[in-house]
Amino acid sequence: MTTDLSATAVRDTEETRTANVYSAEVSELYDLVYKGRGKNYAHECAVVTELVRARRPGAASLLDVACGTGEHLRTFRFMFDEVEGVELSPTMRAAAAGKVPGVTIHDGDIRRFDTGRTYDAVCSLFGTLGYMTDTAELAAAVSSMAAHLPAGGVLIVEPWYFPARFIDGHIAGDFVRGANRTVARVGRMARTTGSTVRQESHWSVADATGVRHFDQVQIFTLFEPADYTAAFRRAGCDVEYIESGDIGDGRGLFVGVRH
Ligand SMILES: C[S@@+](CC[C@H](N)C(=O)[O-])C[C@H]1O[C@@H](n2cnc3c(N)ncnc32)[C@H](O)[C@@H]1O
Repeated sequence: MTTDLSATAVRDTEETRTANVYSAEVSELYDLVYKGRGKNYAHECAVVTELVRARRPGAASLLDVACGTGEHLRTFRFMFDEVEGVELSPTMRAAAAGKVPGVTIHDGDIRRFDTGRTYDAVCSLFGTLGYMTDTAELAAAVSSMAAHLPAGGVLIVEPWYFPARFIDGHIAGDFVRGANRTVARVGRMARTTGSTVRQESHWSVADATGVRHFDQVQIFTLFEPADYTAAFRRAGCDVEYIESGDIGDGRGLFVGVRH
């Protein structure tokens, strides 16, 4: 069966609100696909930790927001005395909890969570802010994260693509062999209305029980660098953009310090 995923106006629909919370099927395959693509979580943690310690040398606690399956937390827990995560998808949260036993993974939405405490550093990696539907949501998310910092605390965000760097109609493909299954994923991203991007991915999975297929749709917003910096400033942070090609997909990092 194929699903009609034709590009339509998607802003403010049920799909917009729920599409980006990862399903059980995606959660189960997420690590296999990204490790297969060579995503180097340990190196990314080293980059982030260095940026944090350069601004707050004694930093001992870190919160990873939209922590996914907890791959960064697996390394961060050896770099900070205390680490915690926040994640909205129950199945991503369960994967993280299984991977870093003893580490608290809060059920929370990046736009409005409250863990009840502060951390020396808060980070959100791999473009989750691209899921915000407009600059008001972007501001709410940055402000929720900054609210978990003391004065002098450090906020690190890996943005999603900027409009100038986005390739409309970009197609991608991954093929990964796991220990007992193979996964193929093909996808295409295209602008729908204005700054909204719809990405559709088709996944095929083969294991000893058979071959199955499912589709995933994600809805993103192309925010300008100035949108991110405005959100940081509104949240009471000084901010700089670091053009680092060696983290994530080369989209750089926004680094803020709360005043
Ligand atoms: C691209 S993944 C990044 C996961 C992880 N940070 C990493 O680097 O692998 C985006 C994650 O954000 C989660 N997510 C989506 N919308 C969210 C929201 N509003 N609040 C919190 N998490 C959200 C998804 O469930 C998914 O786990």
